[in-house]
Amino acid sequence: MTARHPHGGLENMEISNAVALVTGANRGLGRCFAEELLRRGAAKVYAAARNPAAVDSPGVVPLELDITDPASIAEAVTAAPDVSLLINNAGISTHTPLVTGDMAKIQLEMETAFFGHLNVIRGFAPALEANGGGAVLNVLSILSWAHFPAYGAYSAAKSAAWAMTNVVRQELAPMGIDVTALHVGYMDTDMADYVAASEKIHPALVAATALDGIQARVPEVIADEGTRRVKSALSGGLELIYPDLSTAG
Ligand SMILES: NC(=O)c1ccc[n+]([C@@H]2O[C@H](COP(=O)([O-])OP(=O)(O)OC[C@H]3O[C@@H](n4cnc5c(N)ncnc54)[C@H](OP(=O)(O)O)[C@@H]3O)[C@@H](O)[C@H]2O)c1
Repeated sequence: MTARHPHGGLENMEISNAVALVTGANRGLGRCFAEELLRRGAAKVYAAARNPAAVDSPGVVPLELDITDPASIAEAVTAAPDVSLLINNAGISTHTPLVTGDMAKIQLEMETAFFGHLNVIRGFAPALEANGGGAVLNVLSILSWAHFPAYGAYSAAKSAAWAMTNVVRQELAPMGIDVTALHVGYMDTDMADYVAASEKIHPALVAATALDGIQARVPEVIADEGTRRVKSALSGGLELIYPDLSTAG
């Protein structure tokens, strides 16, 4: 799937020969990833879902996978030994603040966005390496970088997943596996069904932008201008992201 560069690096990642696995592929962004991968000629696309019967995209291979269940991950690794491109997409958003919110929901956000994605990577890394190296994409968020109580648990989990992404990129590089982070603001999916349409980007566009990034082997894809602005504000004062701080004290 990837061509060895004469100097030991890898040239562009060939999605046309890839065997891809997308988590949470039954709806939303994951469904768009699965369908765009097939459009780009992927050899096979495993559409992983908690309920594989809910997968109805033509041409994909449905696969049962709950990313919070280590036994389910182990079964998926056995059932899909040929994976060379892993899209860690599955996610939840429980709108839970950190001090007063339900601790079980805070833990579930961490079990999903941090431990879930990490366990999927740990499960599939040996296969990715054995299949000649490949790529992993972690779906993160604008909220990995900007944090508010209404999204407290989600932000903390996505921020932890951002750190995890930066570490596993270095751990997997010697195995010939690229790791790309995708950061994006509101998308037009069930997760953001309460947000005005004018504030949302279409998930099919995001999937296409992210796959372009994987193909070009970039470590980070920022899918929209709002997210780009927040990223650049990280190097300024905190009040650039939290304006209330500028009126404090
Ligand atoms: N929508 C946004 O505005 C937005 C913005 C930035 C980042 N994101 C991120 O984008 C990714 C996709 O979200 P989306 O917008 O497409 O949301 P969505 O429409 O709510 O879809 C979420 C998907 O994740 C699956 N999922 C949840 N928990 C899972 C688990 N434990 N195991 C396996 N699958 C699980 C869901 O499966 P079920 O159908 O079984 O529930 C569903 O397929 C997430 O990582 C999300 O955090 C979304």
